[in-house]
Amino acid sequence: MADGHITYTTENLTDAVLARIAPDAPERTRIVMASLIRHVHAFVKDVELTPTEWEQGVAFLTELGRWCDDKRQEVILLSDVLGVSMLVDAIAHRTHASVSETTVLGPFHRENPPRMENGQHLSPGVAGEPLEVRVVVADEDGKPLEGAQVDVWHTSPEGFYDSQIGDGEEHAMRGRFVTGADGVVAFPTVMPASYPVPHDGPVGRVLSAMGRGPMRPTHVHFWIKKPGYRELITHIFKDGDPFLHEDAVFGVKASLVTDWDAAKQAGGAARLHYEFRLPKADS
Ligand code: BEZ
Ligand code: FE
Repeated sequence: MADGHITYTTENLTDAVLARIAPDAPERTRIVMASLIRHVHAFVKDVELTPTEWEQGVAFLTELGRWCDDKRQEVILLSDVLGVSMLVDAIAHRTHASVSETTVLGPFHRENPPRMENGQHLSPGVAGEPLEVRVVVADEDGKPLEGAQVDVWHTSPEGFYDSQIGDGEEHAMRGRFVTGADGVVAFPTVMPASYPVPHDGPVGRVLSAMGRGPMRPTHVHFWIKKPGYRELITHIFKDGDPFLHEDAVFGVKASLVTDWDAAKQAGGAARLHYEFRLPKADS
């Protein structure tokens, strides 16, 4: 080796790559890229990644991209099943106990869902066990918020979202409500079900390779927006669901699990009642 030339080794390569980040690169870029380089190098060294495994990794990431289109987002799904989406969410919402907890958005929200009036059936024509939903949108002190936009969506009793049924174009089991002066949104619907996250692609292979299942416990999604308040993206889960402890995307939080069957003991329909509390924006 000629004098003055560096040989990169397992000992010095990480520092050499870090040293190439320009000192005048934006500060956040420097922080994020330096940490990413450090962690990826540490991972490669930790598992002593072989060239064959590196090729498999490249093929896997390439395949992830190929599975993505306007109906399928395999990269987000990977983030979800590895718990990364919930970690990002937890860091962004380190809130106090007086406001409602958040969870993942998931891929099944649709822009411009049908506009619904309070009392209107969310799932007309869908056969299944009746479920009465009544939620209140309130501020941190419990004062009802009028004019909050509440998007709701859930699966069929067979565990399929509308976009997974038929040609996927029809809207069903979803709607957009607006709260009245009492902050209430209430409507009848049918009981959703637990269901698998899409697992016929590369992420499904990762799950089975780890001996993990694809199931999510029964839930109803809510996305609540009210100007001046922080948006709330969350679900309410059905207590007693067998998959609560093995949610494929780690989205369950104790405060979001409620008893939907209590009223059935008195001969009534299943019901989901919840009070959402939104903090002021930027608080
Ligand atoms: C959902 O709850 O709709 C969902 C969330 C993450 C991945 C797949 C589905
Ligand atoms: Fe869902």
